[in-house]
Amino acid sequence: MKRLIFATNNKHKVQEVRAALQGHVEVVSLAEAGLAGEIPETADTLQGNALQKAQWVWERTHTDCFADDTGLEVEALGGAPGVYSARYAGEHCSFDDNINKLLAALNGKTNRKADFRTVICLIENNKPRYFEGRVDGQILTERHGAEGFGYDPIFMPDRFAVSFAEMPLEVKNSISHRGLAVAKLKEYLEAK
Ligand code: IMP
Repeated sequence: MKRLIFATNNKHKVQEVRAALQGHVEVVSLAEAGLAGEIPETADTLQGNALQKAQWVWERTHTDCFADDTGLEVEALGGAPGVYSARYAGEHCSFDDNINKLLAALNGKTNRKADFRTVICLIENNKPRYFEGRVDGQILTERHGAEGFGYDPIFMPDRFAVSFAEMPLEVKNSISHRGLAVAKLKEYLEAK
């Protein structure tokens, strides 16, 4: 089975992506690969950050690897927080701080349209390749559900009546930004 290091320190992401690639790819976490430390993400695009994170692993291991970068793009806020979604409420802020800031920014607004977009950068033999996934939905006015992470409790995907945080992981994976990007990665790896 192909072995790929996943350049993330986010345990939820490892769990999601491992479930999606089960039986096809052995997903190795940074800890399992013996890597520690904060991975820089200072680019101003999702693609740039995904490349930067995957390159960080490649430079240290020369092993095939991938990274993802995700942004929540809110229409009424001109696409913010976008590439800055992780630190929307400031450096070292929590998921809760980000949700509170977003709910306050949308207070009283009727347009609650948003999308999640993920770009995955796969590096094989030092060559980058990109896979993108997107899901459209709405920002809720309050938190719903306890599953998932990040903005999940306030994001309701189109054609569903529940938030990402109210869905079993398999359901979120089948429609989510990262799930769709991972499906493209899987399709590419299977076709080789
Ligand atoms: P990252 O840079 O890919 O880690 O993503 C940036 C931020 O987007 C994260 O810190 C989370 O707050 C948020 N995010 C990424 N993926 C998801 C998701 O699947 N659900 C909810 N929030 C997410």
